Amino acid sequence: MLHLIHPAWVHFAVAFLVAGSLAEAWGMLARREGAARFGATLVLLGTTCLVPTMVSGTLAANSVDMPGEAMAALNRHETFAWVLLAVYLAALFWKASYRGRLPAAQRLPFAIYLLLAAGVTAYTGLLGGRLVYTHGVGVDAGAASLLEHRLEGVAGDLRILPKPPHRVRVPVLAVRHVDAQPVAGVDQDLA
Ligand code: HEM
Repeated sequence: MLHLIHPAWVHFAVAFLVAGSLAEAWGMLARREGAARFGATLVLLGTTCLVPTMVSGTLAANSVDMPGEAMAALNRHETFAWVLLAVYLAALFWKASYRGRLPAAQRLPFAIYLLLAAGVTAYTGLLGGRLVYTHGVGVDAGAASLLEHRLEGVAGDLRILPKPPHRVRVPVLAVRHVDAQPVAGVDQDLA
């Protein structure tokens, strides 16, 4: 059950960080101070959400069965999570060093930085999703229902199943017999 806390948190972190970065970058470029401030608030909320997200991720990594081939994917996901935290902390320090009001010359580089940070957020989420949907980490319902389907098949009670879990394609080879035609010369010689 412990590993279910992480998926509950990730959505807040991803949503706040992506929406906040886009809104703040757009606000800075278009000189819409309201949008920039709104985005900055979301970025701050998202960065704060990274703390429980990463704590729960570490708990999840230590409490689920991890298939051997998923280890590399987990390490990559975790590395990007730390990079993500560093990227957004750096953004907050960048702005804080100017007391929240960046000089005009730094608005464009900061907006580009935020767009790249949103990309890192999406990629970290994608890596987490692959852990679950490609490697099946933390998922036991799918395996259980497949086993159930198999048992139903053995018991012969397939009526309650809406459809079988797998569609099996069986290759069929059609052979057409053609009566042998006598070949001039050869058949006559044999006769
Ligand atoms: C130390 C950092 C982290 C570790 C060790 C970690 C570990 C994990 C693990 C083990 C899973 C598999 C699902 C589960 O058992 O909960 C997972 C899923 C996931 N993680 Fe992380 N994670 C970390 C940080 C993050 C961060 C910062 C984000 C987002 C920005 C994130 C996004 C995701 C997503 C989207 C999933 C898929 C959730 C689902 O669809 O069920 N993770 N992570």
